[in-house]
Amino acid sequence: MHESYLPRDDDHPPFLYADYRSTVKRSPEMSPVAIVQTLSEVTGPGPAVSELTTEDADLTTNAGTGGEAIGERIIVTGRVIDENEEPVPDTIIEVWQANSAGRYIHQRDDHPAPLDPNFIGVGITKTGPDGEYRFTSIRPGAYPWKNHPNAWRPPHIHFSLMGPALATRLITQMYFPGDPLHALDPIFNSVPAPARERLVAEYDHDVTIENWALGYRWDIVLRGKSATPFEEVAP
Ligand SMILES: [Fe+2]
Repeated sequence: MHESYLPRDDDHPPFLYADYRSTVKRSPEMSPVAIVQTLSEVTGPGPAVSELTTEDADLTTNAGTGGEAIGERIIVTGRVIDENEEPVPDTIIEVWQANSAGRYIHQRDDHPAPLDPNFIGVGITKTGPDGEYRFTSIRPGAYPWKNHPNAWRPPHIHFSLMGPALATRLITQMYFPGDPLHALDPIFNSVPAPARERLVAEYDHDVTIENWALGYRWDIVLRGKSATPFEEVAP
């Protein structure tokens, strides 16, 4: 018998959020069908065993050109835990982001901002034994999009986490503190308040490295097991 994972809660954005225009076409018109969690949902690929290196987690150099990305260097670190505050070790985290000018290397990105030959905008790492992760990057720029007149996405980093099982898969975005564009962004605002504030990283001066990079801390919570966690009994 396996333990199932907790269901998706109301802190997530609705499938249809009209101000975020593309959800109008892509959201389902009928209510989702709840499925019983079987082995297909409660298992995943297991601990990451691929040959990831620390270089894969450094977006300032992983273009492999020998040069460094242009921009304000940052460190983003935190822990991946579940709803029972248990660490989620050995899980792969993939990130992608615009460059410091707000441009992606993507054929549909026609924003007239420069590409950076030393920046590919993707990185990958896996969590350590306590669920910790760490990326080095540059602060992404804001960029315009066509959702509504004069629409700009606030600087953000896309995160994809597999977690321990398919039921825990999470794709989300991390934002930077104190940005006036948050209040104007339909994607940010599609997440119900106050949960949307949990998408904003904290500036952490202890993570900041003198003469090198600014530090941000952002913890991520994946679904927990639905079984009640019991306190360990002291021997
Ligand atoms: Fe983006």
